[in-house]
Order: sequence, then C-alpha cells, then structure tokens
Amino acid sequence: MCGIVGYIGPRQAQDVLISGLSKLEYRGYDSAGVAIQEQDGHIDVCKKAGKLSNLAAVLEAEPLLGTLGIGHTRWATHGLPNDTNAHPHASEDGKIVIIHNGIIENYLPLKEQLTQRGHVFRSETDSEVLVHLIEEKYAQTNNDLYEAVRLALGDVRGAYGIVVTHADHREIVAARTVSPMVMGVGEGEMFLASDVPALLPYTREMVFLHDGDMVILHDDGFKVTDLAGREVQRNIEHIDWDAEAAEKGGYDSYMMKEIFEQPTALTNTLIGRLHDDTGEVNLDIKLDPASFKRISIIACGTAFYAGMVGEYLIEQLARIPVDIDVASEYRYRDPLVNEHTLAIVMSQSGETIDTLEALREAKKFGAKTLGIINAKGSSMTREVDDTLYIHAGPEIGVASTKAYTSMVSAMLMLALWLGRARGTLTEQQSRELLLAARELPRLVEQLLTPERVEHIKQVAEKYAYARDFLFLGRGVNSPTAYEGALKLKEISYIHAEAYAAGEMKHGPIALIDEHMPVVVIATESKLLEKTISNVQEVRARKGKVILVLSEGDTEHARYGDDVIYVPRAQEMVSPVVNAVALQLLAIFTAQKLGKDVDKPRNLAKAVTVE
Ligand code: M6R
Repeated sequence: MCGIVGYIGPRQAQDVLISGLSKLEYRGYDSAGVAIQEQDGHIDVCKKAGKLSNLAAVLEAEPLLGTLGIGHTRWATHGLPNDTNAHPHASEDGKIVIIHNGIIENYLPLKEQLTQRGHVFRSETDSEVLVHLIEEKYAQTNNDLYEAVRLALGDVRGAYGIVVTHADHREIVAARTVSPMVMGVGEGEMFLASDVPALLPYTREMVFLHDGDMVILHDDGFKVTDLAGREVQRNIEHIDWDAEAAEKGGYDSYMMKEIFEQPTALTNTLIGRLHDDTGEVNLDIKLDPASFKRISIIACGTAFYAGMVGEYLIEQLARIPVDIDVASEYRYRDPLVNEHTLAIVMSQSGETIDTLEALREAKKFGAKTLGIINAKGSSMTREVDDTLYIHAGPEIGVASTKAYTSMVSAMLMLALWLGRARGTLTEQQSRELLLAARELPRLVEQLLTPERVEHIKQVAEKYAYARDFLFLGRGVNSPTAYEGALKLKEISYIHAEAYAAGEMKHGPIALIDEHMPVVVIATESKLLEKTISNVQEVRARKGKVILVLSEGDTEHARYGDDVIYVPRAQEMVSPVVNAVALQLLAIFTAQKLGKDVDKPRNLAKAVTVE
C-alpha cells in the first residue's frame, strides 16, 4: 500500500521525507519518489523504481535542497512499477506536483476527456488524472491551489489520500477519502503522513484527518475544511505511544488493529473492480473464463475456510463444479486435474509450502492457475498464471483476520466475474450483488462501533472459562462457523469444533450439556428457520446458545441465552460481516484468559515447512 509524507518548515525536506518513508516501508511498495521546492520556488522531482534505498542513494549523491517537500512510496495498481509511473506526478509546466494513495475509479473517462482537451499523459497511472484536473481548475480559479484541488476532487470517484504543492505557493494542500492521513504539528513546521510512525521522530502533536477532510499547511499552521470548503475543527492529540505501540496504531495488539482495519482493507479489495452501472467486475485477469470445466480450490487454515465460502459462491453464481482441498491433502491424493481445470490457490503470505507444492502439482497436470493472494511478489504470485491480489495490507497478527474477509470478498468478485462471463448471472442479478458487496466496508464499520464491540466483549467474558465450544452455521455461513472455531482455538486454546448446523444431530449433539456454549450463526438467510430448529435441539439438551442474528431480528432473539446483533447484510456477502463478530468473540475471550493474541503458542505466521 502506498505511503505518503509531506513537510513544510525550516528543515531540509529531503531528510524528513526519506526518514518518514523508511518508517512506512512496512506497508509494501515497489517504487519511491520525492518532490522538493527550492528556495526560488522551482520544484525538483526525483523518483526511482525499486527499494527506497535506490532513491536515497541518488539523493545522497545529489541532494535536493529545499524546505518544502512531498514524498511517496508507490504500491503499483495501475501501470508497471517503473520510474515513470512512480509518484510524484507533475503538470506539464512542472509547477504542480501531486502524490496520491488510493484508486481513482473513474480515471478512464476522465483521462479521455482531458486528452481531448489537449492534456498529454506521461504515465499509465490512474493518479495522473489528478494533476491534469488540478492544472485546469487552477487556471479557472485564478491561481487558487486549495480551490483547484477541491474542485478537482469533486470530479473524481474512488479512494484517495492526495498531497499537492505548487511552485508559486509556499503551501501544501492535502485531502483524504478512505486512505488514511495524519498531520503532525511542530513549532514553525508541519508534517503529513499516511501513518503515525513516520512522524514520531519529529512531533507527538498530531491531528487525525477524517474521511472527506481537506487541509492547507503553512509553516506556522493549518486549516482543515470539508470538501464543500467549510472549515471544520479537528483536535490536536498528544501521542505518547512508543515505537511498538505506534506500529499497532494505539491498539493493544496487531490482531486488534487488523480487526479494526477491515473497513479499509475491504475497500482496498473492492475498489476499482466493481462497476454497478453495467453489473461487470473488472479483475484484470487474463485467463479465459470459458476455457475450464471445473475449479479446484486449494488452501490451508483460514484461507481454506475463505475458499469454502468461494465454493458456495462459485457453484451458485457461476454454476461450475468446484472442489476444495486442504493443500497438504491435495498434493498426495492424486487429484483429477487436466487442462480444463482452473486451480485456485489462496494464501495470505503466498509462501505456505503446502499450498505452493499443491500449486506445482496442479501445474504438472496442465491446470490453469490463479492465486488469490495478499503478499505482493511472494513465491506463489511468481508461479501462477494470474493473480487476484486482495490488497488487505500487511497482516502481522499470526491469527488471520483482515486477510480472511478480503479473501472472501475477492471470491465473491471472482464468482460474479465467472457468472457474468458464462452467462449464468443476469446484469440485474449481478448489479444487486455488486451493490451488496460495495456495502461491506460500511457494514463492518457499523459492527465495529464501540457499543457493539463492548457487548461482544461482555459475551466473550461470560463464556471465557468454558472448556469446549461448538460453532454452527448453514449454507454460505457454514464456513463462517469453521473459521470462528479456528480463531477461538488459535488464540484462546479453548477446544472448539464447528459443524454445518444440520449435521449436528448426526453425532456432535452427544457433546451438548449445560456446560457447552454453542455459537450459532443465524443471520438472515433462506435457511434461517432450519437453523433455528437446530438451535431448539441444542436448547432441549440444555446447551448455552450464543446467537448471531441480523439487526432487528427480535423474533428469534428469545432462542438465545445471549444474542450478538450484526448489521443486516445480503446473504451472499454476510460471511464477511459475521466473521468479524466471531473474530471479536475470539480475541476478547483470549484476552480475558490473559493470552498473547499476537503470538499464539506453537503457531507461525507463514508455515514454510511441510
Ligand atoms: O499465508 P496463508 O494464508 O497461506 O496461511 C495459511 C494458514 O497457515 C493460516 O491461515 C493459518 O491457519 C492462520 N494461523 C489462521 O489464523
């Protein structure tokens, strides 16, 4: 994910930018660049593909002198990771420079219009439309940089953290929607960054910009407005985090931070890929959807459960036979694979050895291969025919959270892409699902409000001393039950099992007594009444029922000893929302028991041994 740093003040900007960008390296990137305003106003731009150290070496040999600058690490989405596509991007006269984090979804029509009006594009990026738009607006607004940026943003759709400066102004203008941005307030100097650690060496007085905020920075102060130009008040907060706490964004663990990052991670997974006007999904996949007759999904652990959701979605929406295997089994079971098979490997790290070897096995028999992967440039991405990146950002907590919900969302998009291409989904059906998918970041954000989180914490603490747990779900939410049980096991060490709810009566029901908490996912679905019958079976044996219900479902609440309400979601997308509730249940249980949730015993983040 891209990183942003900006500086205005008495120091040499180059030093602040390089030091700040180095603190953002953890976000992942493939090129870096800076723009620095010299004393006479002229702006120098230097950008290099590859590591930040490439850029730093060039700047060390020939430093750019100036006390106002903006810097960027780019994680390529549109266009190759080369010097030209690296940020900053400058206007033709070199006077306006911008850096951008996010995706401009409507960049293609904008680019077309701007080209017709005589603008010449030098890069393949979506971001470059911003500099051309600002250039036009700057002329229209009588050289008012803030107003030019504000009007330009009115024309774009998508996510952005944007930072702009102009050779004729000693000021920086920035704005954000979705992409995070924090401002550092110093004595006679101001800073900007996409994350706190970049600024900690310089100041601890910070302003967290909200969605839709714009800001103008001068050496001695700042002004925040909304996108309509109205001034808004944002408090300066004193940040007393140490370096480790800063990396956790103020949360008590990486896992908790990553749970709360899910609205952003989901936005990044979905953005630029859904076209509600046509019902199409643009995944930039070169594979021919008509060329395979069956799909094999292969993964381990949490990624496997995301694959199980994928199995439901692809079979229902695209009507292609799907089988799913844990990678360690697939390799040795002599699977039926040929050139008509699409093998999909799913992995957060892209390095899990079982999955990697299974991928090689599938390739040996001629399968086409697709990776649904988080870690850019990882081994699997180098060996598959095509990759669908989930763009969830770095996941540090050993227990996977945001990678799971992003993988499920990626699977939904894949199922829609296949369904449209193979004619099993009408435009109308696709548009409805696409709109439901678009809602996901907002629904997860609603679930993560303090009152709901506090309630889940109370439920977790009530049952934290249970010896065993059972998780039940049906249909597209039966994998949610498996993932919920895995999360609880991994970090709390409580024994937990999961079953498709209808299967319980075939054996596991023998386990149920008054000591057994049973978590039942019973959100809105065509099978809800059947799930409730299974709940009755648990209650008849004195099991304690924790019901996960859709907001507003008062009718079924009476069947639960405790109820966790989640925002109402369309059934096909509900596994994403429901999983977040179960992640919270697991983490609060583990914390009540005093466990280290980031480093659960015996587990490794990427399992690279067989
Ligand atoms: O990096 P991967 O997605 O390939 O990892 C697969 C599993 O090892 C991983 O999901 C594991 O189950 C996690 N501990 C889940 O929280």
